[in-house]
Amino acid sequence: MSGLSQRIQALKVASTIAFNAKALELKRAGVDVIAMTAGEPDFQPPAHVLEAAVEAVRLGLTKYTASEGTRDLRDAIAAKHARENALHYGADQVVVSTGGKQVLYNAFMALLEPGDEVIVPAPYWVTYPAQIELAGGVTVAVPTSAGDGFVPDPERVAAAITPRTKAILLNSPNNPTGAVYPEAVLQAIADLAESHDLWLVTDELYEHIVYEGAFTPVARYYPERTLLVHGASKGYALTGWRIGWGCGPQRLIAAMGKLQGQVTSNANAVAQYATQVALTEVERTAQFQSMTRGAYRERRDVIVRGLNALGLRTPVPQGAFYVMSDISPIHADENVAAIRLLEQAHVAVVPGTDFAAPGFARLSYACSMEQIETALTRIEGLLA
Ligand SMILES: Cc1ncc(COP(=O)(O)O)c(C=O)c1O
Repeated sequence: MSGLSQRIQALKVASTIAFNAKALELKRAGVDVIAMTAGEPDFQPPAHVLEAAVEAVRLGLTKYTASEGTRDLRDAIAAKHARENALHYGADQVVVSTGGKQVLYNAFMALLEPGDEVIVPAPYWVTYPAQIELAGGVTVAVPTSAGDGFVPDPERVAAAITPRTKAILLNSPNNPTGAVYPEAVLQAIADLAESHDLWLVTDELYEHIVYEGAFTPVARYYPERTLLVHGASKGYALTGWRIGWGCGPQRLIAAMGKLQGQVTSNANAVAQYATQVALTEVERTAQFQSMTRGAYRERRDVIVRGLNALGLRTPVPQGAFYVMSDISPIHADENVAAIRLLEQAHVAVVPGTDFAAPGFARLSYACSMEQIETALTRIEGLLA
């Protein structure tokens, strides 16, 4: 009777976290490791947002807020989506949580019965299957290919629908592939969700990091059953502040809020105020986003060119700050290849195994140009 639950024993440690920990261990031992494992901007948040956090403390905004988030922040979120995405939400259609991660977890807990299936294009972010399974659901992966730029084929999505399908989960711009799905693909998948009476969950955390092509707000196609998941971590460089939000039908948002009220209550009050300022100081935030996007884009061009020149096939991603690179020339098993990269070249990457991307690794280029160039030189040395 003293054992841990089956639920927790079945839960895996995220490989992103595991490989990052290995890199840190080597660093502590004095090795100069270039960590391309983490999924976070290397920029400091914009100055006006930092100032807002200080102001929040001075104003004494340090108490509990409404569990679902302050009314001011929820209004600012609704205004952001109206302004940038032509999506119109009332304050009761918005819930603020401790990161996009909690929004997704609340959603799966609110939507899934044991055995319910969620269709997810693969490669996918490692957290989706873990959370779906915690909520009793089953992840149904629909593979995409490097040759197609990792964009899902709506016909393959349609073929994966069964009587147990409850939802389709989309993530564009995508982690780990950086793919930005074309509008026609998104519309076709949203139409499938509507015609089969499914929920559509769209993770749009990387909205502001798109280099080519246009970002498409998926909720426009099927607002009655679409949950939009967003947050301050990526486009606003506020990862540690832990603010995410969900927008969608009032009945689902209320259910997610009810769960949160019993688990964590409100997200951090100071960070809520700072995020509100990030969303309402439109011009300054847009300048910051444009500056960071420009820097990521230059780095993307260098890393994609460099890896392909070394014979590691790497499609050009149109968004986010990751590349998926075929590391099979280093070793056929991507885990062995990733360990060689770490231990021999001192470049830390995440092997594709847990992203459902065998043979590949994810490299984050949210690091300096100098680090990218050094990493390429080291990888060249390893291949030689
Ligand atoms: C695709 C995707 N969705 C959601 C998140 C959640 O981010 P956060 O919990 O920091 O908002 C991440 C973070 O890595 C992500 O990559």
